[in-house]
Amino acid sequence: MNVFRGEILHFIEDPAKVGIEQCYQYFADGLLIVENGLVKNVGQASELLANLPVNQPVTHHQHSLIMPGFIDTHVHYPQTEMIASYGEQLLQWLENYTYPTEQQFADQNYAQEIAEFFLEQLLAAGTTTALVFGTVHKQSVDAFFTVAQQKKLRMICGKVLMDQNAPEFLQDSAQSGYDDSKALIEKWHNQDRLQYAITPRFAPTCSQQQLAKAGQLLAEYPDVYMHTHLCENKNEIAWVQELFPQSKNYLDVYDQAKLLGKRSVFAHGVHLHEEECQRLAETDSAIAFCPASNLFLGSGLFDLKQAEQHKIKVGLGTDIGAGTTFSILRNMNEAYKIQQLRGEKLDPFKAFYLATLGGATALDLHHKIGSFTQGKEADFIVLDYQATPLMKKRIAHCKSLTEKLFVLAMLGDEQHVAHTYVLGEKV
Ligand code: GUN
Ligand code: ZN
Repeated sequence: MNVFRGEILHFIEDPAKVGIEQCYQYFADGLLIVENGLVKNVGQASELLANLPVNQPVTHHQHSLIMPGFIDTHVHYPQTEMIASYGEQLLQWLENYTYPTEQQFADQNYAQEIAEFFLEQLLAAGTTTALVFGTVHKQSVDAFFTVAQQKKLRMICGKVLMDQNAPEFLQDSAQSGYDDSKALIEKWHNQDRLQYAITPRFAPTCSQQQLAKAGQLLAEYPDVYMHTHLCENKNEIAWVQELFPQSKNYLDVYDQAKLLGKRSVFAHGVHLHEEECQRLAETDSAIAFCPASNLFLGSGLFDLKQAEQHKIKVGLGTDIGAGTTFSILRNMNEAYKIQQLRGEKLDPFKAFYLATLGGATALDLHHKIGSFTQGKEADFIVLDYQATPLMKKRIAHCKSLTEKLFVLAMLGDEQHVAHTYVLGEKV
């Protein structure tokens, strides 16, 4: 048993559903009790301390906030080393920077080296679970899962499917993509805390035949994930219309291939039609909102209110390497500014909900992670209110929890993640 004491916050519901007051639990002096890597109890220290065995050690985290680990609902591990590549919007950016970088992942040793570095960066930023793109190479996923398993992490990853409109050296075929994905599912899905995502890159790089095969595979393995991109960039959307003239809209290309559902996650969704929102909601599909990436590539301003009104599940994604940071805190900062430019407010409670339980719900993992409900996996972080002189000074002036959360979201980054715990162990 491991016991942690300090200021503790976690969410129990979406504030959009129950209101701010009802959506979270907060203990100014709290106790988190972990047994065998799972949450045994959380509550007021004054109440829980009395029931601990005598001599039970307690790790006391002062001037910090303990909360569930962040969840990154869309990220590309092979793009780690091409982060901050200058000057382009999506389609040109893919050609100039992304595809040449991804070519290197044919080499499994290289892939494993980058996977190791990537996961260290995620953990340092306080992210304990992610939905991750590999490359077209099967071995890129073997490399990623090998490292994630060693670290005992809950991670979801998949081999990219792409059989058209991309360099020859990065293409598979409808059949080989199906076969390789199937082999990876058989090898890795549900091994320890690893899960597989069928990963068509995006409609332009997938033939109708390939998308249909992906749908067939998903029907054969209904508990695996489906992970792709959707309505990110206006030129991309126009291209999809040209390539798939028989589809009603972008989402319909995936819908016709039977790729929507409660374990389907669509990155971006910056330019969605009403009809697409309705279909996402009806099928219980999720959107990964990637603020830093959407700004960096000039893709657009995600309409969080629209998603909320349609009751579409939403999580936050860094979208490395189009995103410019591993930090979910910094993505909250960008998300806030995006909503400002839309004339909307992003409440700090909503931001932290999206980063934790909201992300878990988007990934259909809310029964396993995302909060400190009894029995959940004890992946959590300790945010240090005094990590930098500026944070310390600003926090000292805060009069409420709302204000402290807002300041953490606006000024915070990986420097403020003092500790990351996986299954109750410090990593
Ligand atoms: N659309 C297709 N591929 C990609 C990618 O690698 N990154 C982003 N941001 N969008 C994409
Ligand atoms: Zn992406």
